[in-house]
Amino acid sequence: MKTYKIAWLPGDGIGVEVLEATKIVLDKIGFKAEYTHGDIGWEFWCKEGDALPQRTMDLLKISDAAMFGAITSKPVKEAELELVPELQGKKLVYRSPIVRMRQSFDLYNCLRPTKAYIGNPLNFKDDIDIVVFRENTEDLYCGVEFNQVPEELSSLLTKISPSFAKFKDLKPEEYSISTKINTRLGCEKIITAAFDFARKHNRKKVTIVHKANVVRATDGLFLEVGKEVAKNYPEIQFDEGNIDAMTMWLLKNPERYDVLVAPNLYGDIISDLCAQMVGGLGFACSGNIGKNLAVFEPTHGSAPKYAGQYKVNPLATILAAKMMLDWLGETEMGVKLEKAVADVIAEGKVRTYDMGGNATTIDMANAVAEKL
Ligand code: IPM
Ligand code: MG
Repeated sequence: MKTYKIAWLPGDGIGVEVLEATKIVLDKIGFKAEYTHGDIGWEFWCKEGDALPQRTMDLLKISDAAMFGAITSKPVKEAELELVPELQGKKLVYRSPIVRMRQSFDLYNCLRPTKAYIGNPLNFKDDIDIVVFRENTEDLYCGVEFNQVPEELSSLLTKISPSFAKFKDLKPEEYSISTKINTRLGCEKIITAAFDFARKHNRKKVTIVHKANVVRATDGLFLEVGKEVAKNYPEIQFDEGNIDAMTMWLLKNPERYDVLVAPNLYGDIISDLCAQMVGGLGFACSGNIGKNLAVFEPTHGSAPKYAGQYKVNPLATILAAKMMLDWLGETEMGVKLEKAVADVIAEGKVRTYDMGGNATTIDMANAVAEKL
């Protein structure tokens, strides 16, 4: 087995703790890696005006994969106040580091498996096994936004969009615009990834999540491409639904869903819903996957109120490490690790506070490591 280059980005708060726990498990399983710490998070925003310094971007460029913990983000006004005095007043803009990583490295596939492990007291139902594919770089996350709408833009929109008439007399500071941009290629890439996964793993159905009845241009494109791509996979059932209705159906009959694929924002929302049905954020793992790099993370944030207490559930991050093993092609290890997690949950002896127990973050990691 080769020695992988892994960028290790704990970030803030409990991000540090869950990564520490995950390392215990990766070491025990015999994963060979050269781990390099990368600076990321609030401290670097305050000291350097950049929560994701260039040196960390450079590290990512030469890594095979990265494990990322979590980041603390604060509202714009507060963020400005926390800058060191030398940086105050410099008009620095805080941008989410994870969104930047996704966009800079074209990590177009946000893969979020949500499985109800037997014995998890937090399962909403026991037969849920849904894999969410979320487009990860486009849509409302594309970053083309205007807090104060420039005159050129409003006069162009007045000319070309009849629906814009009702806004045309507003002053720039009286409205904002966030654009939703979806490309045919972007839709094709994520939808193909979902169908390829379904084929490889013998999944029966792929459901396209959209709102094409209202958001006709962008979501219409997503659905159209979905229908085209589906033709190449005749053995897989094609299904589609509006995002609003999907939240209801998912809650009503989660066992009927298999693989979901959605544009960025709907994928963000629906993956939290799915996560909650299988135990919540303590179990929600995520892979941000591109062609040459992938960044794996728990979906949860840095939970400042729990920082330093070693009480949060590390399983989301441990399952993210399993995803990393799969992505690197170390599938045997991936299978072994998932089985160890499933066994610990099934036994029910070691449970963190979210599961109703009082095991620490490290107890949980040790329990998983013991099964390996
Ligand atoms: C997620 C998170 C992020 C997102 C935030 C932290 C920027 O909610 O990974 O789901 O919106 O993508
Ligand atoms: Mg989210």
